[in-house]
Amino acid sequence: MLTIDIISIFPDYFSSPLKHGVVGKAIDAGLIRIRPVNLRDFTHDRHNTTDDRPYGGGAGMVMTPEPLARAISALRNEDSQSVVILLSPRGKTLSHEMARELSMFQHLILVCGRYEGVDERVIEKMVDEELSIGDYVLSGGEPAALVVVDAVSRLVPGVLGCDDSAGSDSFANGLLEHPHYTRPRTFMGMPVPEVLLSGNHREIARWRRQQCLRLTLERRPDLLEKADLNQDDLEFLQGLMNEDG
Ligand code: ADE
Repeated sequence: MLTIDIISIFPDYFSSPLKHGVVGKAIDAGLIRIRPVNLRDFTHDRHNTTDDRPYGGGAGMVMTPEPLARAISALRNEDSQSVVILLSPRGKTLSHEMARELSMFQHLILVCGRYEGVDERVIEKMVDEELSIGDYVLSGGEPAALVVVDAVSRLVPGVLGCDDSAGSDSFANGLLEHPHYTRPRTFMGMPVPEVLLSGNHREIARWRRQQCLRLTLERRPDLLEKADLNQDDLEFLQGLMNEDG
């Protein structure tokens, strides 16, 4: 079973988000285990200090290395296969592909940075990977850790009821997902595309694939370079590009 430990100075931050939706159900079903860990439990001073002034001066505080090193060692001892990930804006940007790789490990230790940053030496010695969730700065790694937990958990086998629903997600096949429709058949004067009512599964699959391609070309053409495209896909895309002239 995948265990994700989350080291934070705000372990309570995670209590509500982990109760709900797919992640909450996966925990209840015993498919994943998520354990917020209080960094202050690994301090040895009266004030449970986790930060200090930066050497060299400057604004803000730096996360002090000792409690973090102790916390990581304590958690990692249980399992030598642990991967230690620091959430940080200077890390590699999380992708669906990375989430899939992470979902295959047995034990992830997510470290939530706070303050101006984390003492570089503990990163060098004890962190396997730095991960960012995008090019913006959060006030701490906690929201990013929740994003990682969510993206990774839903890829753990058995977590999504229907095995296919992760397979058809945006990015799963390297493309954006096709649009969805449900009842009513006409909404604000807009009918559901006729093909979806046809019962012809081959035609429906073809239409959906073309919608994936159309949307991806419009919104994220960069994804097309890496996507797995067949001859029909390429011809369809060529047609769209010719239309635009
Ligand atoms: N901590 C602060 N900003 C972050 C980001 N963009 N991604 C991950 N962790 C962060």
